[in-house]
Amino acid sequence: MSRIQVLDKTFEIFLESDAIQRRVKEMAQQISADCAGTRPLFLSILNGSFLFTADLVRHLTIEPEISFIKLASYKGMRSTGSFTTAIGLDVDLLDREVILVEDIVDTGNTLFQFLPHLLQQQPRSVRIATLLHKPEATRHPLTLDYVGFSIPNKFVVGYGLDYDGWGRQHGSIYQLAAE
Ligand code: IMP
Repeated sequence: MSRIQVLDKTFEIFLESDAIQRRVKEMAQQISADCAGTRPLFLSILNGSFLFTADLVRHLTIEPEISFIKLASYKGMRSTGSFTTAIGLDVDLLDREVILVEDIVDTGNTLFQFLPHLLQQQPRSVRIATLLHKPEATRHPLTLDYVGFSIPNKFVVGYGLDYDGWGRQHGSIYQLAAE
């Protein structure tokens, strides 16, 4: 399909399923080489990264531990700004090599707010693996250790990514079409 309709918007093909699969395999090979001899904890951030995580771990040649979390943002009552915490984090992170698995880093707000919370638990290391990155949109100094594709600052759906809860199921990634 070269174009799909999601709710009121039309999207056009941007990354074919085959290209995504090839890149995800390369990322898994890279991570496996970097983490040889260790058992990293893959912390997959739901909902968007469920397909990416499933494909990534199938190509690993190391033994991973895999867990899933959701991030929730809270506005402080009197403090400025908000903080982000993990729901469902049931693994002790002390001294662990952690690989955060994200679907997309856009502004970077989510990870930037969550990282201090994660570091409080004193993991040995934290690395970020994101399938997509929108460098033009990112406003925080995040080190992204593994990036599948750097993409323009346009809205995308498919391969786990949604528009208002729709469109996650596609194997390819689609970009908002010009009007
Ligand atoms: P950030 O905090 O701005 O980096 O955005 C993080 C989250 O926003 C991602 O994990 C996605 O759930 C969502 N997001 C950002 N850009 C897109 C997009 O183009 N399509 C779908 N979801 C997106």
